[in-house]
Amino acid sequence: MRIGILNSGGDCPGLNAVIHGVVGAADQLGWEVVGFKDGFEGLLPPGDFRILKPSDTIGILKLGGTILGSTNKGHFAAKLGAGDIAEVPAEIVAHAKSTMDRMEISALIIVGGDGSLTTGLQLFRAGWPIVGVPKTIDNDLCATAMTFGFDSAVTTVVDALDRLNTTAESHKRVMVLEVMGRHAGWIALWGGMAGGANVILLPEIPFNLETVAGFIRQRDSRGQHATLVVVAEGAKMPEGGLVTMANNCGGEIRLGGIGEQVAEKLQSLTGKETRSTTLGHLQRGGAPTAFDRILGMRFGVMAVKLAEEGKFGRMVSYQAYHVDSVPIEEAVNKLHLVDPEGEVVNAAKSVGICMGD
Ligand code: F6P
Repeated sequence: MRIGILNSGGDCPGLNAVIHGVVGAADQLGWEVVGFKDGFEGLLPPGDFRILKPSDTIGILKLGGTILGSTNKGHFAAKLGAGDIAEVPAEIVAHAKSTMDRMEISALIIVGGDGSLTTGLQLFRAGWPIVGVPKTIDNDLCATAMTFGFDSAVTTVVDALDRLNTTAESHKRVMVLEVMGRHAGWIALWGGMAGGANVILLPEIPFNLETVAGFIRQRDSRGQHATLVVVAEGAKMPEGGLVTMANNCGGEIRLGGIGEQVAEKLQSLTGKETRSTTLGHLQRGGAPTAFDRILGMRFGVMAVKLAEEGKFGRMVSYQAYHVDSVPIEEAVNKLHLVDPEGEVVNAAKSVGICMGD
């Protein structure tokens, strides 16, 4: 038997761990693994792929990125923005299917986020033998408690905050750190809490910068002259909403720039020197954490098990320390967002973190 695997959408730490898991588990069954390059694009005739043997995966577990390449653009991009869904044209689907048929691929493992799994669902409904594996640093997929890549991104945020803290203390400054996450605030919330942020601003909780400025003044009056502010790229400015980049190049809107705006406003409201840093793609690069290596590997092994059992149209899912699976349709087209009234936000507020509300 021959199975295919592709990585689609933005890359994230742990993709190679999934490949490692898939190739190892498939080899135990005597199956051959075909790795399609650059996401779904690799399926287009004549097909761009490489055969993956266990010897090809030696040492990749600890590598960031993906040995197969990935793209969040191209012929198969199914998601246009928050809530907008685009279907992949039937002729493209048929074209790609001809490669699947010619190569006698009996199962196709799609490692992707919401957009890529939405494409996977379309292909499954068109009769393809699809197994999904949830991937994104944003942790915004429903039906899985966590995606691999998230823990690595959070670890990068924590490292950045530790560094910003020392210089903030030296200069008695306010430091604003803008982090990724698209429309979900998970990276900001977890990274901010673990990194000792004093203020965390999320897409899920409307904030008021006067409130934040008052909080900073109060800290100053207590002798706490340095303040760390984490703002999620998808948070909305009180007057102005989402902050996006000018150079959107097709596909989903590019978020970014809110950190600078928050910093300017806080400086004028508090009179305190304020600097902003945008962490950007540092959150996506580099080696995966131990947690993401294990989660990715277990996801890969479970994906092969689903293929072996013929359980197509399902996505590997992490629930309460256990790796299982759910129908792909339960996971896509609705975002897994931070609950503003939930236990994690309450814990943050209980330890004195200001959420700007
Ligand atoms: O979805 C992952 C993510 O890193 C988001 O957090 C971010 O908004 C986006 O991708 C950036 O995409 P690109 O790499 O295309 O700029």
